[in-house]
Amino acid sequence: MKIQAINGFKDILPEAAVRWRSIEQCARDIFERFGMREIRLPILESTELFVRSIGESTDVVEKEMYTFTDKGLTMRPEATASIMRAFIEHGLHVQQPVQRLYTIGPMFRHERPQKGRLRQFHQVDAEIIGAVEPQIDAELIAMGQMLLDTLGIKVNLEINSLGCPVCRPPYKQRLVTHLQEISSELCDDCRRRTLTNPLRVLDCKKPPCRAAVADAPSLLDVLCPECDQHFFGVRQSLELLAIPFAINRFMVRGLDYYTRTTFEFLTTDLGAQAAVGAGGRYDGLIEQLGGPKLSGIGFAMGVERMALLMEQQDKTQWPSEPMDLFVAALGTESLPLCTRLTHELRLQGIKTAIDYSGRSLKAQLKQASRVQARFTLIIGDDEMERQQGILRNMASQEQCPLDLNGAHHQLAERLLEALR
Ligand code: HAM
Repeated sequence: MKIQAINGFKDILPEAAVRWRSIEQCARDIFERFGMREIRLPILESTELFVRSIGESTDVVEKEMYTFTDKGLTMRPEATASIMRAFIEHGLHVQQPVQRLYTIGPMFRHERPQKGRLRQFHQVDAEIIGAVEPQIDAELIAMGQMLLDTLGIKVNLEINSLGCPVCRPPYKQRLVTHLQEISSELCDDCRRRTLTNPLRVLDCKKPPCRAAVADAPSLLDVLCPECDQHFFGVRQSLELLAIPFAINRFMVRGLDYYTRTTFEFLTTDLGAQAAVGAGGRYDGLIEQLGGPKLSGIGFAMGVERMALLMEQQDKTQWPSEPMDLFVAALGTESLPLCTRLTHELRLQGIKTAIDYSGRSLKAQLKQASRVQARFTLIIGDDEMERQQGILRNMASQEQCPLDLNGAHHQLAERLLEALR
């Protein structure tokens, strides 16, 4: 029986990897323009970390985590909790009061796989820790928008405020009362969530539930003056930066740590998976994890979803990395020279391919085209005898002789000159 990758875990084949690399590179370039620094984190963490940050009654913690139950360890379902753990553990706030950190890597959630939804997926995650001003929220959102715009991915930005420990509890009470009144119209899950996690009911994707909650009270109507002021500041700053947005008064995030600003970059091009990226503020999280009383805000973008959208929305083919030179060694005589020369050229930074099989010139030229070589160096028995190889420009098909005399490095230098 053939062994295959497990459901929800996907190979990224070389053609796709080119696109992935460009996404990652673009994220790095843009994030670093905003003063962000990279942090790399382990994949395994204490289960406790995610229970305490993401929240016990969230879908992620309740049913989606890959946990080694006998060891109390979990494969991270997201990066924010791990970044906060590292931030506290290494006292990063002591070095610099405001930390701007990003990380890129795989996350794991046991969800039902479908288009754009995997069990191992990848995020680019950015966090700004230690700053409270609403301008920071807008700056971070603008950074996410800049990344998507640069990659040519079209999205709609929605924002909301989830309030704070002052205004959210009384709102929750009001919401529970309302949900109990309409409980006969809700699905079983939502009826259960009414008491465990009432805000999630607002986020149910089932049409009857959506219709039922359309008149539910919104937190935006009952924000405390500080949260209201903050949300006003965020909107004002987004307008200043000319970032278009819509307010979604029922946006609820699937993770419990959020306070105040939340936002989602949404698409209609990925079927059921609407969010390309999402994030928000988490002003109590660091303290809750045993750290200093500092606020934070961040977002994560899904790399799979960005790659899919680029494929769908941008029809241009992404070339795989072309080679500079293909060395066609014909016959056995030339093989040692070609082998040594190839190594020398690679040392000099030239992308060089070689075929050791001694196949026909025709077959090797075909291979050279396949790897998109700009030039092919042809050396067979005749060329060895004359000490003169043939350098072929693959685009123009022009050929010129290349003196094979001298030491390898001299030959390499001559080639470098010819390739320029
Ligand atoms: P999240 O909304 O759970 O937030 O995930 C962020 C993004 O990760 C989603 O918008 C989506 O693009 C991608 N994603 C999530 N689950 C999957 C999946 N199963 N398959 C493919 N892609 C997926 C967070 O993770 C928060 N940590 C974001 C954040 C950072 N908030 C503050 N800082």
